[in-house]
Amino acid sequence: MTAVTPLIHQSASTTAEFTIRDVIEGQTAGHLIVAADDWGWWTALLSGESIVPTTGIQQTVADGLIRAGFLARRGHRYQLTHTGHDVGKNRGFVRVAVRGWEPTFRQVSDSAHREHISAATDPGAVALGCSDIARRKPEFFAGIGHAIATGTPGCTIDLGCADAGRVTALAGLAPRERFLGVDIEAGVIADATTELAAKGLSDRITLLAGSVQPEAEPPAWLDRVDRDAVTTAMSFFLLHQLASDGGGITPVLRGWMDWFPNLRRLVIGDGYLVEATSWTQQPWFSPTYEIYHSLTGVRLWTRQQYESAFADLGWSIARRMEDHTMLVTTILERE
Ligand SMILES: C[S@@+](CC[C@H](N)C(=O)[O-])C[C@H]1O[C@@H](n2cnc3c(N)ncnc32)[C@H](O)[C@@H]1O
Repeated sequence: MTAVTPLIHQSASTTAEFTIRDVIEGQTAGHLIVAADDWGWWTALLSGESIVPTTGIQQTVADGLIRAGFLARRGHRYQLTHTGHDVGKNRGFVRVAVRGWEPTFRQVSDSAHREHISAATDPGAVALGCSDIARRKPEFFAGIGHAIATGTPGCTIDLGCADAGRVTALAGLAPRERFLGVDIEAGVIADATTELAAKGLSDRITLLAGSVQPEAEPPAWLDRVDRDAVTTAMSFFLLHQLASDGGGITPVLRGWMDWFPNLRRLVIGDGYLVEATSWTQQPWFSPTYEIYHSLTGVRLWTRQQYESAFADLGWSIARRMEDHTMLVTTILERE
């Protein structure tokens, strides 16, 4: 039986001080933000268009977004407020947390006896949310695309490519490069393959389903790849997880270097651990991010841990791009 402790009024320095209203309205706002995104509202609003709800459901969502302070009404049209602009730009994080991670948080109720629970995600929601997060910084793509397009064309692989959002964007920036994407979610890969065919990109981008975790035996998908042709390896928001299961950052990177002997460039984007004494002191988005990882036992790694692994394996930092103190993309090169 769990001991019941009396209610304690804690000081503001140690608690987040959420009210019951914040808890319930925050959850509802998250659902409304995702629904509005599925209808294309944020894309339209961020490009300067206003929206006009045409059904009862649309009207209710628009009114909810007004109450949350994200939209303002001008006649029968709705426009973004300053906060709404911020929410729209960051809607990928909302989708990942509200829809993508919901299956993990749902398991907590039945898991009081465990140290950790396995991450259970909605893979489509994670893929779409992550692609939206990537789109926040088109200048990062420009930087990566420029690096890939400069010099001899080769083949770029995206390890943990999700819905191929990043390789598709980069294919437009580096027209002579060929691209490969690999992800463990076969359903996400199947849907993305269909989309690529519809866009006429199948000859330049190949997607494969399988694990990119280096193990004692190479994965089956590697047999279908011209390993010598791969000159750039990218991975976004996955290395921390592979490193947790695979003995650290260095062994995972070394595994990829063994798979692709002619690798001359690495592009690693990941969420870094920011040192703080309590989760509420972590920068924006990180509190929930930290709780999700603590529940699943997946470790987060500091910038120093990433950079010493890069240096140990002979990689030099050509460019570091920080979207946020904890979201860092590094372009690495070696002779
Ligand atoms: C947080 S998402 C990042 C998606 C994408 N890289 C991005 O940043 O837009 C992590 C992705 O890695 C995939 N993944 C997880 N474990 C994997 C593994 N062992 N091998 C390949 N992909 C994996 C998931 O299916 C998911 O698509």
